[in-house]
Amino acid sequence: MARKSSNKNPGVNAMILGVGSFAHSIGQTLADSGASVSTYLTRNYGHYAPTLVGKTFSRDAHSNPVPLIRENKIDVVIPQSIDWAQQSWAKDLLKSGVGIFSPTGEVMRIERERDFARELCAKFKIPFPKSFVAQNRIEAEKILEKNPQPFVIKNPLCSPTSPIHTILCETVADTRAWLRNVNYAEGVFLQEYLGRAEAGHIALVSGGEIYSLVTNQEYKYAFNGNQGIVAGAPLGGLVERDENDKYGLARELLHPLLPWFRKVNYHGPIQVTAIKRGDKWFVIEYNIRIGVTSGPMILRMLKNPAEIVLATARNEKLNLQCNDKLNFGCSLTLAGYGYPFTQVRGPQLPLEISGKFDCDVWWNEVARGGDGNLIATGHRITDVIALASKLDAAIAKAYANIRKIRVAGSYFRTDVGQSLWPPGKV
Ligand SMILES: Nc1ncnc2c1ncn2[C@@H]1O[C@H](COP(=O)(O)OP(=O)(O)O)[C@@H](O)[C@H]1O
Ligand SMILES: [Mg+2]
Repeated sequence: MARKSSNKNPGVNAMILGVGSFAHSIGQTLADSGASVSTYLTRNYGHYAPTLVGKTFSRDAHSNPVPLIRENKIDVVIPQSIDWAQQSWAKDLLKSGVGIFSPTGEVMRIERERDFARELCAKFKIPFPKSFVAQNRIEAEKILEKNPQPFVIKNPLCSPTSPIHTILCETVADTRAWLRNVNYAEGVFLQEYLGRAEAGHIALVSGGEIYSLVTNQEYKYAFNGNQGIVAGAPLGGLVERDENDKYGLARELLHPLLPWFRKVNYHGPIQVTAIKRGDKWFVIEYNIRIGVTSGPMILRMLKNPAEIVLATARNEKLNLQCNDKLNFGCSLTLAGYGYPFTQVRGPQLPLEISGKFDCDVWWNEVARGGDGNLIATGHRITDVIALASKLDAAIAKAYANIRKIRVAGSYFRTDVGQSLWPPGKV
């Protein structure tokens, strides 16, 4: 379908399906590369930031985004998470012929169903930790009895609204205690605990090829020194441009899947999260998105992000061009009152800024109050992201900027980059 609107506006016409800092960052970065951008707001928070980039459409006013996509001649949609595929309008979206920056259909199971990822790894001889699915507490406790070792407890079906979020258990006793305390509505996926030497790698698959983008690290523990619980989303992240896969993660954990990618016509992002035990990397999860933390940094590293997003959605060969001065990125999250224990909530609080930002600041749960001033409205307030040619410079810049923001009761990790880097280090 030819969807370029007119010669006056030859740029890519993109629609984000998301909210908050995802829509803000991806939208602004695409707009900076010449795209026109709008956002279909898929959740009930984070509606302010996307208005800074372009038009926004609410679910209340538009229960189905597909007519908007047609009317506005959208070339490509960029979903924030995989839950779009569960919506009543998912079939309509697929039929509309619009480009989708994500694999679709059955292929999505590589992220959605943890046991499917395990099976794929077994088939293509990719190391994956010992894992089990249990439907209820009795089954889960039996598995632990037969396999007395620590397990990480996960949702078997991934969704932002899953009844459980990943619970890390580092001992058998911790595992036993948590198994008495989780919601079994969708069952549990028990995955052998493999330690803390984690890293990730993100690539695009398009036109039957794998294009490595970055190796990354996410700081998922809520507090300094990797203490506390693994939060719902990371508190910080690093990315290193890595087209040549210098740490070997793509070679070991993505390239063996190439026959499958080709067979199922996979096109879209692929992200592997892995843990090193001994001298071997094990897959702990695949995601089919560029992610809320790494995505904005990846698109900034590309010279032509709008073109690449569209070409990937169309399953074409890619001509990746990177900005040579932006080899590293650092992302810091300012967390609000109560985080990471999301049951605890505070009031809406004033957000004060001292001085001028000189890097990207993407608002998440932030709104503009009646008096015109910014207010923090939730647990994940903002992501501050800096890119530079050297890692130290990216980290320093991100810290200099996050320190310009003040919200009562908020916090950020002050030690991003001091552990877990380079990949394989604890
Ligand atoms: N098998 C494992 N061993 C050790 N740590 C793990 C394991 N699985 C997950 N983790 C930790 O928990 C985090 C979240 O798990 P993950 O499988 O990526 O699920 P999700 O991102 O959907 O929460 C990982 O990034 C890692 O830090
Ligand atoms: Mg993960």
